[in-house]
Amino acid sequence: MASVLQLSSVPPLAVGTLRRVYAHPREQDRLVKVIRPEVIERRWGRGAAWYKRFRRARQFIAVQREVEEYLANYARAGGPAPFVQRVFGFEQTDLGLGFVIEALHGADGAIAPSLGAIVRAGRYDSRVREAFERFARDFAASDIVIGDFSAENIVLAWDEEFGERFVLVDGLGSSTLIPLKALCRPANRWSKLRQLERVRRQLPVLADAWPTTSGRRPWWSPLRRRARVAARRAVG
Ligand SMILES: Nc1ncnc2c1ncn2[C@@H]1O[C@H](COP(=O)(O)OP(=O)(O)O)[C@@H](O)[C@H]1O
Ligand SMILES: [Mg+2]
Repeated sequence: MASVLQLSSVPPLAVGTLRRVYAHPREQDRLVKVIRPEVIERRWGRGAAWYKRFRRARQFIAVQREVEEYLANYARAGGPAPFVQRVFGFEQTDLGLGFVIEALHGADGAIAPSLGAIVRAGRYDSRVREAFERFARDFAASDIVIGDFSAENIVLAWDEEFGERFVLVDGLGSSTLIPLKALCRPANRWSKLRQLERVRRQLPVLADAWPTTSGRRPWWSPLRRRARVAARRAVG
């Protein structure tokens, strides 16, 4: 019998708004995502809106959409898209049902950083921008449907097969009641172009995030941003 993965005794590698991400205890090339218990209680617990409790998959609704979209894309394209994380399946863990997916790493062997983390660290240079634009082109040209595209949901990975590339790790699937984007290709493409543009517009703002002890932005932050935007315009 498959054993229950023990995750509670180790720190997560990353924490998102919905999930915690752990290294798989046995498989080096895999990660395990579990839903944060406090989020389950807040969103799907007793105080939650009735229609949320009505959803049969409850806290797994996002992963259900993600898996559905992964399968749909796999079937249509005849294989996995290189810009989407591979899915291995589900395993029991001591923190609830674990979603097991491919671990993406950077060229340095560390866990692949998100676009947001790269920008915050001041490492958004022309090479990263080119990788982002390559991703944007393939992503917009594909039939993939995405409900939640953001700078935190793509990571910059490196491996021998593909070299450096951005990979989607979250947000896949249609989040609306009527899946317009899945039904209408032009609507899907338009939506993706809009979401890409929204993230592009955020990039200089993200670069300005300044770690302070209070967690608040310092008063000079807008000035730095303005200076940076002006400097960028000046270099074209
Ligand atoms: N396959 C992966 N490889 C490397 N890092 C990942 C992977 N999946 C997620 N991450 C990291 O973990 C963070 C949270 O994961 P995510 O699936 O986005 O959780 P949430 O659903 O809570 O937003 C991501 O922003 C990313 O930095
Ligand atoms: Mg996310």
